[in-house]
Amino acid sequence: MSKMAQDYQAINLSQGFPDFDCPERLKELVAHYLHDRKNQYPPMVGIPVLRDRIAEKVQGLYGYSANPETEVTVTSGATEALFDAIQATVAIGDEVIVFDPAYDSYEPAIQLSGGKAIRIPLRLPDYSVDWNQVESAITARTRLIIINTPHNPCGTILTKADLDHLATVIRNHDILVLSDEVYEHMVFDGQQHQSVLGHAELKSKSFAVFSFGKTYHATGWKLAYCVASPELTREFRKVHQFVTFTTSSFVQYGLADFMLECPQHARQLPRFYEQKRDTFCKLIADSRFKFKPSQGTYFQLVDYSAISTDDDVTFVNRMTQQHGVAAIPLSPFYAIAPATKIIRFCFCKDDSTLEKAATILRSL
Ligand SMILES: Cc1ncc(COP(=O)(O)O)c(C=O)c1O
Repeated sequence: MSKMAQDYQAINLSQGFPDFDCPERLKELVAHYLHDRKNQYPPMVGIPVLRDRIAEKVQGLYGYSANPETEVTVTSGATEALFDAIQATVAIGDEVIVFDPAYDSYEPAIQLSGGKAIRIPLRLPDYSVDWNQVESAITARTRLIIINTPHNPCGTILTKADLDHLATVIRNHDILVLSDEVYEHMVFDGQQHQSVLGHAELKSKSFAVFSFGKTYHATGWKLAYCVASPELTREFRKVHQFVTFTTSSFVQYGLADFMLECPQHARQLPRFYEQKRDTFCKLIADSRFKFKPSQGTYFQLVDYSAISTDDDVTFVNRMTQQHGVAAIPLSPFYAIAPATKIIRFCFCKDDSTLEKAATILRSL
């Protein structure tokens, strides 16, 4: 959709990246280390000072005391961390429970490891998890359950009660959890992000994946990390070693300094993105799109059934090519798409971009 947006010079509210830049000070620090000869292979698991910062962060936010030596691994994007965790745990014939809809990198990684994704639909209209259905889907081959909170594309969050259900469901099984928490700092309306790292029972059974790209408005740097118990991290690193081995050194140094210098950046993020969500929702309130404001992420789902009877792919193509606003259809996130007319907008854009897009969206 980004390519189509470019080809048709449409306003791009499709792919999830900001049209504003990352913090100036962060760029200065990264540039400093680029010029200060931090240009050779860093340690395989990430530079020590960055792993220390990550350990301090998960301690402060989730009360999880990670040993940076044995429980924190820096990766080339969350995509790599997700891939490594799946390859480390899933063997031929194993089953992995994945919710429907889901972020698109999970299932190909499962297939590549010879596993099978067992898709469980999120319940409409609020995209909640039916934990009874999860329990019924468990077999002797179930190896992993992948959760994503806040959720792309739905903009929903899992509650403490959800994590309790998950813990109960896997309690008597040899099942691990892969928790995609790349939008950890984008949770709105006074709610708290519920990390598996903060859950007494789940923390020892989970790979928790986070992304610097999302938090620091630098998706192009592809820097992320995985926190997991020493046993799980040992297996994780066996894959990481031969997938990328390591990731850009100067970016790691710059981020480590920035985390220490500007802890307020991450603290202010929920409010920053909540304001963007509110701005976007207010701007399209008078349109014919129907929606419930997102609880988290920088995505907003909208129902376009009052505007068109087209399927979602046709609708977003037409919106991009004829009206000049690009969005993402929801059906590609599904194994079995329901007959809904829903698309996803990304609101991590300058207010002026949102205003221009909304003027068009209100005219549809
Ligand atoms: C739910 C989810 N997980 C993982 C990723 C990948 O993150 P990264 O860019 O750090 O690889 C994304 C990016 O859009 C995402 O939305």
